[in-house]
Amino acid sequence: MGLMSKRDTTPKGPPDRRKVTTKGLLDMKLRGEPIAALTAYDYTMAQLLDSAGIDVILVGDSVAMVLQGRETTVAVTMEQMLYHAQLVSAGVQRALIVGDLPFMSYQVNPDEALRNAGRMVKESAVEAVKLEGGEVICETVRRIVNVGIPVMGHLGLTPQSIHRFGTYQVRATTPEEAEELRHDARALQDAGAFAIVLEKVPAAVATEIARTLEVPVIGIGAGAGCDGQILVTHDMLGLYTRFHPRFVRRYAQIAEEMTSAFRHYVSDVKGKSFPSPKESY
Ligand code: KIV
Repeated sequence: MGLMSKRDTTPKGPPDRRKVTTKGLLDMKLRGEPIAALTAYDYTMAQLLDSAGIDVILVGDSVAMVLQGRETTVAVTMEQMLYHAQLVSAGVQRALIVGDLPFMSYQVNPDEALRNAGRMVKESAVEAVKLEGGEVICETVRRIVNVGIPVMGHLGLTPQSIHRFGTYQVRATTPEEAEELRHDARALQDAGAFAIVLEKVPAAVATEIARTLEVPVIGIGAGAGCDGQILVTHDMLGLYTRFHPRFVRRYAQIAEEMTSAFRHYVSDVKGKSFPSPKESY
């Protein structure tokens, strides 16, 4: 029996359609309700995620890899992120929409970061922005939070710094790195971040950070002890298949389904069985 057939799909009462807010996420942490987050880059996907009850939709800079076909996330531009965030906002009613600030849109100085965070909110209707980094970006986080824009932090494996580290291996595996991670997480919380994403760090370290922080910790490859989970939607759907990290559970094999549909279509067109008289005017 496969994973899919074992899953309990019984509806547990009517879905909660109240708008998710940063305060709502904090309440979820307090009552021990895990936060379910996924990424989206366009209207159709965002609408499907929202109607399925996803709490947080991240317009991730992973768009660079899964939509633009790039090797890393570093090349995606502010204008491209604004565009994708606009598409997503058009499809969402309930979920909290978070927009990634792309590489070099917030690192030069806090003024530039504030301007770009403001553009995300005003031009693309996101409700929060996400930045990568710890203590070094806390002044920037404070500036953005102080004008009323919620900030989500991102620690552990920070893909925008891939050229510095040179590898996508698990982070915070030594006691020194784990201590630095704890310190950065605390610094982000103190700077006003409303939640922190922890990517690819040992489960024990992530669990301890989630237990000690007041703000929700959302894990990706950080084990079950976090306050919520996030995955890249194209990974969990089996749509982006260039690689398959161990932390990605594939809930579907969409790439296979699509390829089969496309082959079927080619065969129907070549065999002149499409369109039929019923599909014609
Ligand atoms: O860009 C992204 O999709 C992300 C998630 C992996 C957390 O930052």
